[in-house]
Amino acid sequence: MSADPRHYPPEYDETVVLRDARLARLRLLGPDDKGLLTRTFERLSERSRYQRFFAAKATLSAEDLSALTDCDGENHLAIAALSPIGGDGVGVARFIRTLADPAAAEAAIAVIDSWQRCGLGTILLVRLFAAAAERGIDRLVLHMLSSNTSMAALVRKSSPRTSLSPAPPFGVSAVVPVGRASR
Ligand SMILES: CC(C)(COP(=O)(O)OP(=O)(O)OC[C@H]1O[C@@H](n2cnc3c(N)ncnc32)[C@H](O)[C@@H]1OP(=O)(O)O)[C@@H](O)C(=O)NCCC(=O)NCCS
Repeated sequence: MSADPRHYPPEYDETVVLRDARLARLRLLGPDDKGLLTRTFERLSERSRYQRFFAAKATLSAEDLSALTDCDGENHLAIAALSPIGGDGVGVARFIRTLADPAAAEAAIAVIDSWQRCGLGTILLVRLFAAAAERGIDRLVLHMLSSNTSMAALVRKSSPRTSLSPAPPFGVSAVVPVGRASR
C-alpha cells in the first residue's frame, strides 16, 4: 500500500467506463513512455494534431518526446489513457507548472479521433484538475485555436467557472480555477 495520501500518486492506476461502454485505463506518464506517446501521436488525425500543437506536425522529434515525457509528477504531470486491449495510448492530459508563478500551470489535452466524443476528454480533464489542486496549483491555463469549439465546450463543461479570453496568436485562452479556487 502507498504511503502517499494523494489520489494521484506515482502509482495511480484506474480503469474507467466510457459512454459507449469501452474501458480505458488511466495512469501517470513517465520518461519510459516515449514509445507509447509516439504511437498515440501517430493515431491522431492531422486536424487533431494541429489543434493540439498549433502546427502541422508529421512526427514528434526526439526533443519533443523528451520534453513531453519529462514528467516528475509534481511540476509536470501527465495522465495517459490506454486501451485495455493491447495497451495502446488513446489520450493524454498534462499540466506544466509555470516557473514564474508556481500556483499556475499550463495544460493541454488530446484524445485520439476514434475515441473522441465518448467522455474520455472530460474524464481526463477532471482528474487533471484534481491532481493539479493536490499539488498546490490553483489555476490552469489552456490555449486553443479560436476555431476549436470542441475544446472550449469541454473546458466550460468540466469547470463552469472557466473564463475564456482572446489570446493572439493561438486564438483563445481558458483560465480554469482548480481546487479551492474553483468553489
Ligand atoms: C477536445 C478533445 C480533447 C475532446 O475530447 P473528447 O474525449 O471528445 O471529449 P468528451 O467526449 O469528454 O466531450 C466533452 C464535451 O466537449 C464537447 N465536444 C467534444 N467534441 C466535440 C465536437 N467534435 N463537436 C462539438 N462539441 C464537442 C461537447 O460539449 C462534449 O460533451 P457531449 O459529448 O456531452 O456533448 C478532443 O476533441 C481532442 O483531442 N481534440 C484534438 C486536440 C485538442 O483540440 N486539444 C485542445 C488543445 S490543448
